[in-house]
Amino acid sequence: MMMKKIICLFSAMMLTFSLFGQAQKPSMKWLEEARFGMFVHFGPYAVLGNGEWVMNNQGFTVQDYHKLQGIFNPHLFDAKQWVDAAKSAGMKYITFTSRHHDSFSNWDTKQSDWNIMNTPYGKDLVRQLADECHKEGIKLVLYYSLLDWSRNDYSYTTGRTGQKTGRTVQEDWMSYIRFMKAQLTELLTNYGEIAGIWFDGEWDQLPSEKSGVAVTHEISKVDWHFGEIYDLIHRLQPNCMIANNHHLAPLPGEDYQAFEKDLPGENTGGGFSANQKVTTKLPLETCETMNNTWGYNLKDNNFKTPKQIVHLLVRAAGYGANLLLNVGPKPTGQLEDVAIARLLEVGKWTSTYGETIYGTKGGFVKPQSWGAITQKDKVYYVHILNKEADQLTLTFPHKVQSAKWLNVDSKLAWKQDKKTGNVTFTLNGALDDIDSIIEVK
Ligand code: GLC
Repeated sequence: MMMKKIICLFSAMMLTFSLFGQAQKPSMKWLEEARFGMFVHFGPYAVLGNGEWVMNNQGFTVQDYHKLQGIFNPHLFDAKQWVDAAKSAGMKYITFTSRHHDSFSNWDTKQSDWNIMNTPYGKDLVRQLADECHKEGIKLVLYYSLLDWSRNDYSYTTGRTGQKTGRTVQEDWMSYIRFMKAQLTELLTNYGEIAGIWFDGEWDQLPSEKSGVAVTHEISKVDWHFGEIYDLIHRLQPNCMIANNHHLAPLPGEDYQAFEKDLPGENTGGGFSANQKVTTKLPLETCETMNNTWGYNLKDNNFKTPKQIVHLLVRAAGYGANLLLNVGPKPTGQLEDVAIARLLEVGKWTSTYGETIYGTKGGFVKPQSWGAITQKDKVYYVHILNKEADQLTLTFPHKVQSAKWLNVDSKLAWKQDKKTGNVTFTLNGALDDIDSIIEVK
C-alpha cells in the first residue's frame, strides 16, 4: 500500500516535471528579467582585424592560421574593463566566446594545445572574466562553437564551411563528440557558476538556409548527440541555461531560444531565421552587432547610435525578448573607445527608464512601426519610438484607470471609448527624441 502511494507520488511528480519542468527552472527568471546582455567575440582572429570568420573567408589553411598562436597577445586585457562597460550600459550578463569556429580555446583546456595558454599572453581569459563577473554580480554565459575549422575529427567533409583549411584526413566523429563533452566538463567544473552555454554552428551540417529546402534538425548530416550533451550540462550545473543558435525551433533540453540579427518572428535577418518559429514556452533572446561584424574589424566603423541601440532594446522587450548586444575587442584585449562611449550613453537611458524594460513582459500587441509596449503586472509602458500620427489608439486587456507621460513635459490627453474600450492618446507637442513613454494603469 505504502509502496503504491510512493509510486503514485513519484509519477505525479514526474508528470509535473514533464509538463512544467522547463518553466520551473529558477534560472529562467533571471534571464527573462535581465533583458539586456553583452556579447563578446574575441580570439586570435582579432589580430587580423577582419572579423571572426577571417579564417574561412580568406581561405587560411590550419597550418597558416595557427601561426597566430605565436602572435596573439591581449596583454592589455582587463576583465574589469569589459564588466564595467557592460554594467555602465545596464547589461546584466555577458556571453563570451570560449571557443569560436576556428577552434581556439580561450581557457586552460587540457583537450587541445590550440589555446590561450600557449600564446605569448599565456593566461586564462575565461578564468579572469568569470572571477570578475562573479565579483560584480554579472552572469556569465559561454558561447561554444559546434562547428570547427581546425580539427580533423570534425566532420568537415560534410560541412558547408571550412573547405580551404587543407585538412586531408577525416577522423572519427565520435572523437569530436568526446572532445566537446570533455571541454564542456572543464568549463562547467572549474569556473564556478556558468549561467549558460550558447551553442552555434549546427547550420554547418544542414542544407543552405537559402537553398529553398525546408530545413529541419532531422536532415543534419551528422548526429550531434545533443541529448547527451545537454544532459551532461544540466547534470554538472542544473541551473545552466542552454541556447543553440541553430536558427530552427528549439530542441528538447534547450532553455531559451536564440535569434540572430533578427527580432523574434520578424524574419528580416537575411535568411538566418527564415525557418525559425517563435516558441511561447521559453525565454527569447536576439543577438545583434554594435557595428556590422562580431569579431574586431578594422574597417567597420558603422556603429549604431545610442538611440538605435535603445530602440532595439525597447523593441526586443516589446517582443518579450532580451537584447544581446555585441562588442569585438581589439587584439590588445581592450574594447574600442567608441563601443565604451556608446554603452555609457545607453546606460544613461537604462538607468533612468530601466523600470520600463527590466522584469517586463512583451506587450499585448507586438512591436509596430510606431514603437512597442512592455508590461509589468497591470502597468503598461507604451514606448513611442517614431511618432507616425497625432493619435494612437490601442485596445488594452484591462480597463484603464490612468495614463501619463513618464518623460514628456506635458499633460497627456487620452480618452477611452465606452463601447469598444479602445483608448486613444493624443501625441501632440514636443516628444522625447529617443523614446516617449506613456505609463498606463
Ligand atoms: C553566426 C556566425 C558567428 C557569430 C554568431 C553570433 O552564427 O557564424 O560568427 O558568432 O553568428 O550570432
